[in-house]
Amino acid sequence: MGLNSLKDVYIDQLQDIYSACKQSVTATNELAGAASDEGLKAALEDGVSGIHRGMDSLEEIIRAHGADPHGEHCKGMEGLVKEARAHGIEEDFGDKDAQDAMIITQYQRMAHYAIAGYGCCKAFAERLELKDDAHKLDQCLDASYDGDRRFTELAEGKINRKAA
Ligand SMILES: [Fe+2]
Repeated sequence: MGLNSLKDVYIDQLQDIYSACKQSVTATNELAGAASDEGLKAALEDGVSGIHRGMDSLEEIIRAHGADPHGEHCKGMEGLVKEARAHGIEEDFGDKDAQDAMIITQYQRMAHYAIAGYGCCKAFAERLELKDDAHKLDQCLDASYDGDRRFTELAEGKINRKAA
């Protein structure tokens, strides 16, 4: 299908984030399983719930426009998930704090991709005067920013110091 309008671009990118979320939720579960610090494990588990909530909103928005949430495969997130597994899980770590520091950076790379996606789609929704969509996407964006900040605090407050 060709993309002929901003609306087409908007739906395409909503489907892209949906696919990105679907892939990152699996990887985040795996990172939670590999994390040692209890606070980090809990943050990753909450991250999984947050991604699911985002997917529910995305599915609602996409279906309301008569489109299929599963219409795209995000290759960007496919790459980030490969990175997260290779660096955060399969790497040979001699120190669990070093692994936790790596897990945080890998999770944040995936989270930042979602933040970029939500931010762009919110801007498209505003331009298209889709107020409900923009409001829902703004909530997803806020939740993603809050989640991301928690990982920065974990890294700066404790984990990177322990790993140093
Ligand atoms: Fe993508």
